[in-house]
Parts: sequence; structure tokens; C-alpha cells
Amino acid sequence: MPLYNLFVGPALRLLDAEIAHDIAIGALKRGLVPAAPSFEDEVLRVALWGLEFPNPIGVAAGFDKNAEAVDARLGLGFMEVGSVTPRPQPGNPKPRLFRLPADGAVINRLGFNNHGHAVVAGRIKRRRQRIILGVNLGRNKDSVDAVEDYRLGVEAFAGLADYLVINVSSPNTPGLRELQGRDQLGGLLETVLAARDSAARKPPLLLKIAPDLHEADMADIAQVALDAGVDGLIATNTTVARPDTLSDSNRAQAGGLSGRPLFEPSTRVLSEMYRLTGGRLTLVGVGGVASGADAYAKIRAGASLVQLYTALIYHGPELVERIKRDLAERLRGDGFASVTDAVGADHR
Ligand SMILES: Cc1cc2nc3c(=O)[nH]c(=O)nc-3n(C[C@H](O)[C@H](O)[C@H](O)COP(=O)(O)O)c2cc1C
Repeated sequence: MPLYNLFVGPALRLLDAEIAHDIAIGALKRGLVPAAPSFEDEVLRVALWGLEFPNPIGVAAGFDKNAEAVDARLGLGFMEVGSVTPRPQPGNPKPRLFRLPADGAVINRLGFNNHGHAVVAGRIKRRRQRIILGVNLGRNKDSVDAVEDYRLGVEAFAGLADYLVINVSSPNTPGLRELQGRDQLGGLLETVLAARDSAARKPPLLLKIAPDLHEADMADIAQVALDAGVDGLIATNTTVARPDTLSDSNRAQAGGLSGRPLFEPSTRVLSEMYRLTGGRLTLVGVGGVASGADAYAKIRAGASLVQLYTALIYHGPELVERIKRDLAERLRGDGFASVTDAVGADHR
């Protein structure tokens, strides 16, 4: 029964967006959300970085910032927690999360509210479920040395995470996105990769980029990422742009826009990064995914894995199973034996 669509979703949408989110995480944490009847299909399996993903659909960073719901069973192929900063911090004043139902979108200016490295690491250590888990790293708002914050993140989580993400693309921490510039990015990646390489466990390290990049920025990032030797890119974070098509009264709120209006610009950046790296870098596609068709389009544009967040707010956890079934059907329908065979198909 579509429990979420009929009852839970409408009830949650009567509440302030952040309170609704906290209730959802609380329910997942306490095991109150029934386990999804996980659909498995070998066409959905993805082997990457020595990991076996049962399917390519993961939840994006920001959904479970503090690793409280890592034991929830939603049928996902992987989860990404964070962004987490070295010290706990409260984030921006509330309200700071806004729904734009008319546009299938959300605007957030949370500003990396999170419990900090030590608490999040403790929760990951105590988890019972062995789902593939990424840890997304950020910097404290008041830190004087951003690079050192990311290095500390690698040190804290290399032994616990299946992959690490350097997030230099959130729009709500002043100065953060400047780390995407050629010179700063080169130095940052050199430091974090050295930290990763000197750790006992060496998880793959990915860079998460913004959708608001010019052609020259994208070419620089592609070159720097390839030269430094990162293991992948996540494209993209939320956008500071406000497309003309937005009609919801919340459209003028400051912050990062996600959901349906982000699908097209984020897929464009994903596709461009695939082209610029000649398919040599593993890409994770995120932004506006709300259906199997959307996930398939990200894969064809160059993504080996796909993430989503905003569509879960509107459609609930049941969406994950629908996407997986539909994606499997589309892959078979086009004659692909696996997700990997379809990666970048639009470029051939
Ligand atoms: C409320 C909210 C909080 C987010 N927090 C983070 C974060 O802490 N770190 C991060 O890298 N991305 C964060 N994101 C961005 C998402 O991971 C994702 O890149 C973006 O929302 C696009 O995907 P979507 O359209 O499926 O939501 C956040 C997004 C939302 C909506």
C-alpha cells in the first residue's frame, strides 16, 4: 500500500519542513519505517572501487547528516552521510529549509548543521547494517584553515567509510565554493589524497561539485581531478540559480535549490564532466532525480551511480523501489546487460 503517499507524506507536509525532516529521521532511526520489500535484479548491480553495489541508487548527502538512520532498510544501493565538520556546529538561524511544492523543489540554507566528527564516527562504528556507506566532509564555518578541516575528515573517517567525499560545492558556507578554483583545488586535493594514502585503510575519495560552473571552470576541475588522481566526481550539489520557470512563493528564499528544476542543469554538468574526462573518472549523478527515467538519463549522460534527496521529501521512501524496477526495465529494454554497459551511452 502506498502508505507514504496516502497518509504520512501529507501529514508531514503540514509541518515546517525541517521539523518534518527531523521526524522522518527519528522514525527511520527507531526502525518505525517498514523495511522496503527490496527489489533485486542482477542488471542493477554495479562493481566499483572493489565494492559491490546491489543497485546504483543512493541517498545524497544532507538527508542523514549525522549518521542517525544508517540502519534503515530502504532498498538503497548505498548511503552517504554528512556533510560532517570537525567540530559540531548549529548552522544558520531557522527557518532555513523551504518546500516549493509547485516546482517539485526545495531551497535550503542549513549551513552544515551537524554533530561533528567524533559523534558521527561513533554512530558509524555502532551500526549494524553493512550497506555501502560514504562520508561527506565539510569545513567548520569559523575554521581558519579549510584544507586542514578536510584533512582531519579524511583522518577521522578513512577507517570507517566505504568512500569519502570532499564537498566544496555547498552554497551556504561563505567562501567554500572558491575551493573549486584551479589553484586552491590542486592544493586541497594533494593534501587530502596524501592523508588518505597514509591511512591504514584507503577508501576511494570523490569530489563533489556545484552546478553553477562555467565551461572554463569545468575544464579546470576535470584537469585538476585527473592530475591529482581522485577516484570520482559527484555532480552536482544544489544551485544558487533561480530558473525563470519557478512559480512557488518560496522561490526568492536565499540558499541552494534542489529537486526538479535542478535536473537539467545538473545533468548538463555531469555530461560535460564525462566528456571532459573522456570517461576516465567515475561519476555519480545527482540533482532532480524523481523517476527511473531520470536515473537512466543520468547513467546515459555518464553516471555510474545515482543519488537523490528532494524527491524523497515529496514521494517518500517507496520511490526507491519504483525507480529500481523502472530502471531495470529500461536497461533491459535497450539491450543493456548491466548499468555499467549503459554508462555514457549518450556520448557514443
Ligand atoms: C536539505 C538539504 C540539505 C543538504 N545538505 C547537503 C550537505 O550537507 N552536503 C552536501 O554535499 N550536499 C547537501 N545537499 C545536496 C544534496 O546532496 C544534492 O546534491 C542536491 O540536493 C541535489 O539532489 P536532489 O535534487 O535529488 O535533492 C543537501 C540538499 C538538501 C535539499
